[in-house]
Amino acid sequence: MRQLIAGNWKMNGTLESARKLTKELVKALSSQPHKADILLCPSSLHVGLVAGIAMGTGIFVGAQDCSAHPPGAHTGDLAAEQIADMGCQYVILGHSERRQEHQETSGLIAGKAGAAHRAGLKVILCVGETDAQRSAGQADQVVAQQLEDSLPSSANFNNTVVAYEPVWAIGTGKTASPADIEAMHSLIRTKIAGKLAHAENMRILYGGSVKVDNAREILHTKGVNGALVGGASLKADEFLSIINAV
Ligand code: PGA
Repeated sequence: MRQLIAGNWKMNGTLESARKLTKELVKALSSQPHKADILLCPSSLHVGLVAGIAMGTGIFVGAQDCSAHPPGAHTGDLAAEQIADMGCQYVILGHSERRQEHQETSGLIAGKAGAAHRAGLKVILCVGETDAQRSAGQADQVVAQQLEDSLPSSANFNNTVVAYEPVWAIGTGKTASPADIEAMHSLIRTKIAGKLAHAENMRILYGGSVKVDNAREILHTKGVNGALVGGASLKADEFLSIINAV
C-alpha cells in the first residue's frame, strides 16, 4: 500500500511562511517522483493559498477540522463543502487537541466525518489514548471505543484514513515503541474489519513526535501506512527527510 505522509501545521504560520514552506516543498518534490502520497494541512486561513500553490503538483491539501452541518448560519465554522471548494481533498477530524480543547465527542466527530464524506472529502480520523489511560491498561479499549463511536456509516477504505496518535506522544518528543505501534495498528485493523469491507486496504497512520531520526523505524513498522507529522512538518528539510524515509 502506498504510504501517506501528512503534515499537520496546526495553528502555526503566517501568510509569508505558509507560502515559503509550500513553495519549497513543491520545488523539492517536483524534481523527483513522490515516494508517498503527500498531504499538507495548513491552518484554515492558509488553506486557499496552499491549495493554489499545490494545484497540479500531485500534493494533496487538507483542513484540520470541519463542521457537521451543511453551509448556513454557524458563525466561525467551516463547512466541508467550503473546504472542498477551496481545493482540498482531505480533512483531519478528531485530533486530540480538538477532543480536549473543544470537548469534541466521538459522536460529534462521526457527524463531522459524515459531512466530510458527503462533500467528497477524505477523512483522517485521529484516535489515541492518554498517558493515564495507557498506564491503567486501558489503551486498547479506549482506541476501540473511539473507532466504534467516531466512524460514520459512510466510511470505507477509500474515503477514510485512521491516524493512531497516542496523546502522550504528541509534541512531547516521546514516541510509542515499534512493538506498541504494531500491536495497536493490528487492533485498529481488526476493529475496522468488524465494521467495514476490505479493511486490509485502509491506511492507518502513526502520529506523535515523528521526526527525522525516528521516521525510518516508524514507517517500516508492520501495519504502518504513513505518518501524521506535526512539529517536523513546519520545516521543509525535515518534512522532506521524513518523506524520503519511506
Ligand atoms: P507532533 O504532532 O508531530 O508535533 O507530535 C503530531 C500531531 O499532533 O498530529
